[in-house]
Amino acid sequence: MTDAATVPLSERVLRGDPRAVARAISLIEDESPQGAEVVRRVFARTGRAYLVGVTGSPGAGKSTLVDRLIAELRRSGKTVGVVAVDPTSPFTGGAILGDRVRMQSHVADAGVFIRSMATRGNLGGLARSTSDAALVLDAAGKDVVLIETVGVGQDEVDIVRTADISIVTLVPGAGDEVQALKAGIMEIADIFVVNKADREGADRTVASVEALLSLDSYPDGRWRPPIVKTEANTGKGVPELVAAIERFRAHTAASMGQRRRARAEFRVQELLAHRFVQHVHDQVLEAGEFQALLDRIASRETDPYTAVDDLILRSVAGPGVAAPSGPAGATLDHIGIAVADLGAALSFYRDALGLEVEAPEEVASQRVRAHFIPVGDSADRRTGAAGPNLELLEATAEDSPIAKYVAKRGPGLHHLTLRVGDIRASLARLKAKGVRLIDEEPREGAHGSLVAFVHPASAHGVLVELKQATGVPVERRPTERTDS
Ligand code: CO
Repeated sequence: MTDAATVPLSERVLRGDPRAVARAISLIEDESPQGAEVVRRVFARTGRAYLVGVTGSPGAGKSTLVDRLIAELRRSGKTVGVVAVDPTSPFTGGAILGDRVRMQSHVADAGVFIRSMATRGNLGGLARSTSDAALVLDAAGKDVVLIETVGVGQDEVDIVRTADISIVTLVPGAGDEVQALKAGIMEIADIFVVNKADREGADRTVASVEALLSLDSYPDGRWRPPIVKTEANTGKGVPELVAAIERFRAHTAASMGQRRRARAEFRVQELLAHRFVQHVHDQVLEAGEFQALLDRIASRETDPYTAVDDLILRSVAGPGVAAPSGPAGATLDHIGIAVADLGAALSFYRDALGLEVEAPEEVASQRVRAHFIPVGDSADRRTGAAGPNLELLEATAEDSPIAKYVAKRGPGLHHLTLRVGDIRASLARLKAKGVRLIDEEPREGAHGSLVAFVHPASAHGVLVELKQATGVPVERRPTERTDS
């Protein structure tokens, strides 16, 4: 049996397993609860990597520069993770292509892990997933994590500010652009790079950045962003850039805690807003209610303030008002039936009852095959999960828990699974009430779900499984990607 079936994903990430790192980042991109779970579990062991944000206008040769940076860092014995972000390109756009090209030169190097991220619509989500992806690379033991993004707008600022140092890349002839930079990037630039410095106009670009810097004052102790000239194509200036990064790191060592605290504030505020909105959509609003609310506002039947106050009130009003899948409630997800003879079971459930049996799912860690039979009359629109289901469980090995169950008690009802909104909250409640749990911590289930079992001793002879479904509705769930 491989690690994948027996060792938790977070543990494999901490061991630096590149497949686990790729998987964890995919889950984070999908906003799966499993991705959040990985971050929860590894977070205490992060904070060791140095996060370097690199941004700049498209065409600044940033990809080549990052490639050179990787090589230079590797020469000094450091391991490197790269998160390449391209907010402006669609999913199949430039980031992935660039990543592929660059990967070529580092593909055989186990000390380098490169991953591209693209937007799935919302940029707040991208800043969040970028920062979580950097955490995963940190947890996996990378010494330096490069966060590369294209552009100089607010979104890029948000992404780059999740780093310990921000490098802004310019090219000769970007004088107008330097003026435009004043607003956003100037505040976050710790180092300016003028790339393609062999080109005409390089000195003018350096001068316009200088002019900009001279508008500010740099008393003793305040870092004045240096301007480093590089030629990424030849690698000229790259050792100087690495030296400048090291100087900044030493300069800010004492204030590192402060910088990371500011980053924590930004992340918590952003996540709080995101999670609250998500909570309102998932747990407070009925299906179609949001659209109806917008209609009522458009026709002046109500106003946005009243509507939002009402939603806030309902979201904090507690379990009585919460939807059935809220932390305090549960909906039936499926009933598991241990089967001794699959053919006979199918001839009853499928042929005689006329139910539709889905293609079986292999659960390797349990040595079982699960055949789901939807028996609900509607899909749950809030979560996108259909249900409830019957689950015919067929042992695939003699030592499978299902084989043992059948041998001991005969075929029949095995477990029932309740879907909850927040599995950790449910487990905490159960624990507080003295309920005996088989799993005190949720573990990874199928389709990015989190699951935990309650002991039959506390559930009146029934094996009860709790399940928190993925945040991504089934029909929109992206297929597994293999780009890293
Ligand atoms: Co089950």
